[in-house]
Amino acid sequence: MFQDKKVLFSGMQATGNLTLGNYLGALKNWVKLSDEYECFYCVVDEHSITVRQDPATLRKRARALLTLYIAAGLDPEKNCIYYQSHVSAHAELAWILNCYTYMGELSRMTQFKDKSAKHADNINAGLFTYPVLMAADILLFQTDVVPVGIDQKQHLEITRDIAQRFNSIYGDTFTIPEPYIGKAGAKIMSLQNPEKKMSKSDENPNGSIYLMDDKDTVIRKCKRAVTDSEGNICYRDEQPGVKNLIDIYCACTGMTPSEVEREFDGKGYGELKMAVGEAVAAQLTPLQTEAARLEKDKAYIDSVIKNNAEKASYFANRTLRKVQRKIGFPDRIR
Ligand code: TRP
Repeated sequence: MFQDKKVLFSGMQATGNLTLGNYLGALKNWVKLSDEYECFYCVVDEHSITVRQDPATLRKRARALLTLYIAAGLDPEKNCIYYQSHVSAHAELAWILNCYTYMGELSRMTQFKDKSAKHADNINAGLFTYPVLMAADILLFQTDVVPVGIDQKQHLEITRDIAQRFNSIYGDTFTIPEPYIGKAGAKIMSLQNPEKKMSKSDENPNGSIYLMDDKDTVIRKCKRAVTDSEGNICYRDEQPGVKNLIDIYCACTGMTPSEVEREFDGKGYGELKMAVGEAVAAQLTPLQTEAARLEKDKAYIDSVIKNNAEKASYFANRTLRKVQRKIGFPDRIR
């Protein structure tokens, strides 16, 4: 679709409070990729309603997330930053792809199994077909690469299966996307249970550092991080708490784990925790300041929302029209 650059698509949900894990594991890497690729970064609000949401909160969080994309350094002139719900092609293609996806495949999705266990009172059809909407997101833009966390890899595999199935029936229609799994250190674990991913929905607020936490809170949470009784600052699986702190430190400072081991050789956990707290705060404070500044500039954010929805619609509709033609929907009269 673009002559010189490959296409990258990714999205995030505006549910829960974003954590340091979302920033270091996703957003920060998106910024690095934004020169190399033609990027589409979506706020996937349509995915959010697979779980019941309070309307006012959803609206507020969606805007905060879109603003955060920009505050993190994604230039909305170069990257297409938009709301999924503003581009109707997402829902339209998702419907079509639903008819090329099997119940059996969808029932094997681990996220569906997890979420339906967690929301047993609301196992809706949208939760079941969630991966099809995600496939539509990706395939609409003839995406080459999709940066995702390991937890979304299965959804990318089903996207590839759906695309290949469609292509084999109708001829080349969709680019087959590749996952782009960030390098080591990208997966940030809970500070209270380092066996578990740092999550927006952690019941223990000390487990997660939220992007809007102030410096004192960040430092307090780091000080309380669960470690072990070894007393050595070593980067190894047997010390998951310490390993996670080192990962966070590396992601903030750009150091390697062995450099961190050397820096803290002979020092105690207290010093490591303090340094991690300072490094995290040094990342978050400018992000918070910039987000607050942008939030006040309503006209600017509104113009980004409008222009980028138009841009995304233009490219998405090109694919959608092609698909509609191939499956035999009547031509539009112009
Ligand atoms: N399901 C993804 C998540 O929860 C979000 C998402 C929706 C997404 N559509 C996408 C990610 C397309 C990458 C590409 O993290």
